[in-house]
Order: sequence, then C-alpha cells, then structure tokens
Amino acid sequence: MFKVDEFVLGGLSACCAGVITNPLEVVKTRIQLQGELKSRGHYVVHYRNVFHAFYAIASNESVLALQKGLVPALWYQFFMNGIRFGAYQCFDNFGLTRNANGDVIFHKSVVFGAASGAVGSFIGSPFYLVKTHLQSRSSAHIAVGHQHSHSTMTGALTSIYKNYGIIGLWRGCAASMTRVTIGGAIQLSTFASVKTFIDKSKIIPTDSFLNSLAAAMVGGLAVTLLMTPFDVISTRLYNQPVDEKTGKGLKYSGIFNCMHKIATTEGILGFYKGWTASLLRLGPHTVLSLLFWTEIRKKYMSFKQKFEPKSSQINTISRTTTT
Ligand SMILES: *[C@@H]1O[C@H](CO)[C@@H](O)[C@H](O)[C@H]1NC(C)=O
Repeated sequence: MFKVDEFVLGGLSACCAGVITNPLEVVKTRIQLQGELKSRGHYVVHYRNVFHAFYAIASNESVLALQKGLVPALWYQFFMNGIRFGAYQCFDNFGLTRNANGDVIFHKSVVFGAASGAVGSFIGSPFYLVKTHLQSRSSAHIAVGHQHSHSTMTGALTSIYKNYGIIGLWRGCAASMTRVTIGGAIQLSTFASVKTFIDKSKIIPTDSFLNSLAAAMVGGLAVTLLMTPFDVISTRLYNQPVDEKTGKGLKYSGIFNCMHKIATTEGILGFYKGWTASLLRLGPHTVLSLLFWTEIRKKYMSFKQKFEPKSSQINTISRTTTT
C-alpha cells in the first residue's frame, strides 16, 4: 500500500537540509533551556540572542560544537520526515486529500497531514531525545539545563535503554507528537492550499520552483508562530533529569504540568524562547527540504519512467516539510 521510495525520497531531502540547519538547532536548544523555571533577572544570561549564542558556543567550546547532535538529528529527520512526507504523498496518490477535480480539500489535507506527522514523530522520538541531550551538553561555563553525561548517539541510546528500558527511549514523545502534529497539519495544509491557489490563478507558471517556494514560505511562517510554544515544551521534557529508580521526570510530570510551570515562573514569553532561532531555521529548512525533495523526486521519477514506460505519470509536487 505505501510506497517505500516516497518515504526514502522525503527522508533524504530532509537530511540534506538538516546538515545545513543543525547549528541553529543547537542554538535554539540552548536558548530554550536558559533560565528554565526562573523569572527574568534571576538567572545568568549566557546567550543574549541567536548571534551571540553562535559566538559564545564557538569561543567557549569550538566551532564544531555547533554541529552537536548532528547524527541523531539526521536520523530523526530521516525517519520523521521520511515517514511524514511519504505517508502524506501516499494518501494523496490514493486521492484521499482531493475532490473529483483534483483540487486539495482543506480539511482532509489537515487531517492527513496531522496523522502523518504523529506517526513520523512517534517513530523518530528516541532520536529527538538523544539529540536534545547532546545539544544541551556544553562546557560548564555556558551550561544551561540538565547536563546528561552521554557524548555519542549509540552511547546515549544504550545507556537510556539499559537504565529505563523501551519506555525510557520514548520519554517525552507525547510532547513532540503534539508539536509535529500541529506543525505538520498547519504546514502541509497551508502549503497545499496556497499552491493550488497559485496554480489556479496562474500568477506564477505552474510547476515552477517559485510556485512551491511561495507556498512553503506562507506555510513556514504560520508554523513558527503556532509551533514555538510546543517546541519549548518538547525541549524541556526531553532534557529534564529522570529519577533513577522510578524513571519519572524530576521537573515536569507531563505536557500540561510543563505549560503550567513555564507560565507561572517564566511567563508567556517563556514559551517563545528560541523563537528567533526557530524562525531563522524554519525558513531555510523548509525551503531547502522542499527544494531537495522537488529536485530529487523529479530526477527519480523521470529515471523510473525511462525504465518503466507504462508507470503512472509524474504527479504535481505539492508537499512540503518542516520540524
Ligand atoms: C564564553 O561565553 C560567554 C557568554 O556567556 C562570553 O561572554 C565569552 O566571551 C565567551 N568566550 C570565552 C573565551 O570565554
């Protein structure tokens, strides 16, 4: 039923984009953990803004530290986006998101976008967990948030599994599923609808890259606005220290508890920590994964057609990525 090649194409393009945008992820994670559960003025500010954070990390640690967590980040991108993209494309190929004229039906694309996102982020969750641990780990001088002791992806996965079992590996997955479901639904649906609108209005020639680009930008902006609070919550839940015996989080008991604690100590602005980094990252990330995806898929499809002349025609590309 599902086509493996769609999953792989989606995953690969997200990985290509991930290599370029990972430093922004490191910076974002640090800023989101800075001043955790403390009100303004009651903590040392190591990272004044995105650009200062780049400088602080590069000078106190090393330039390479800006690529911390790259390995789990890429695995996460591969699984999470590959599954999300691929599943959505399959739903679309089956005509589940469109009406008889081939136009995208808004609410259906939202539902299938959300479902694809939930599955993708659930499967990718252990990688996101380890990514957060590795990215927050820093030199003592500029450390923020709980410092986990592992230093490699496999080391982290093994030690978490040994100490806390399968449940431990999926710790925090509810938060990231919420994050991705909301983000994915908004982005996929905005993208698909905006693209159908542009296609119809013929402002930009159909199937040109500009067309997809414009649609992706609108989607990206909407996503960043609504997703950042859930991004902060995910980072906090993934990074929190865990009780050795009970395996329970020591700071937050769940999503709502985390929301409540952030709201009462850090205030509403606490939910927007790392917002600039997210915005800076989402633009290039969305545009790059879309670009890679469009190009890789076009090449792959024409290659496939050459060898299987009877296979179905090339579909109009109408999906996108984030997170
Ligand atoms: C380390 O980070 C701090 C920010 O907290 C910064 O002021 C300082 O210049 C950085 N570099 C060194 C070498 O300490």
